[in-house]
Amino acid sequence: MRALVVSDLHSNAEALRAVVSKTRRKRLDSVICLGDFVGYGAEPNQVLDVMRTLRGARYYIRGNHDRVASGIDDGSSFNHAARAAALWTRNHLSAVNRRFLAELTVGPLQHEDLLLCHGSPYDEDEYLFTEHHAGLVFKLFAARVIFYGHTHLPVLFSIDERGRVEGASIRGDATVDLDPAKRYLINPGSVGQPRDRNPQSSFALYDSGRGRIKFFRIDYDIEATQRSIHAAGLPRILADRLAIGS
Ligand SMILES: [Fe+2]
Repeated sequence: MRALVVSDLHSNAEALRAVVSKTRRKRLDSVICLGDFVGYGAEPNQVLDVMRTLRGARYYIRGNHDRVASGIDDGSSFNHAARAAALWTRNHLSAVNRRFLAELTVGPLQHEDLLLCHGSPYDEDEYLFTEHHAGLVFKLFAARVIFYGHTHLPVLFSIDERGRVEGASIRGDATVDLDPAKRYLINPGSVGQPRDRNPQSSFALYDSGRGRIKFFRIDYDIEATQRSIHAAGLPRILADRLAIGS
């Protein structure tokens, strides 16, 4: 498998366009999306139209914002800005995209030796930040590589044969050759709303044959995304935070 791995697109079509254009010439056969296609941003249909029609095998799962925007959940657990955007999204989805969102697979999704989830494999809404937490997940799930999202931070945790867990934040572009003796928990970061003080869009490429994961950060037209958020009348904070990556 040679897969594009994305998460937390959050209705940011400019960022997704930049990712697609950067990876167009790569020989990829699959796309993995770890949820939160929509929410926060103002271009849900543009993002979903692209994601529904990407070439290759598609392994997509639902995120918590997709759950609220598709009407499965009322969003009462969301903060004001997140809920406002989710409800706005609900009212602006095309029929085909509304159905696509509502029918997204609920994680975890197993594919060969991969496990895909949004928050953690046992809770779509759980934030996975620490080595201790990663150790619990490694204990409960035997997959060789677990991809997750939700925190909007590119991170790689590993566990060796002796049960030692190590976590590393990924800064900028990075290539990691996976050790066959270890298992991994990997977050590709967020395409549409990075939160590690780097406003560049984040994604990864996974090559199962080579046992390699490559992380990327790329520029996109942040101002265009901000303009679309303003034009939609969504809370200003949702536009402002994109410029600082928070
Ligand atoms: Fe998210």
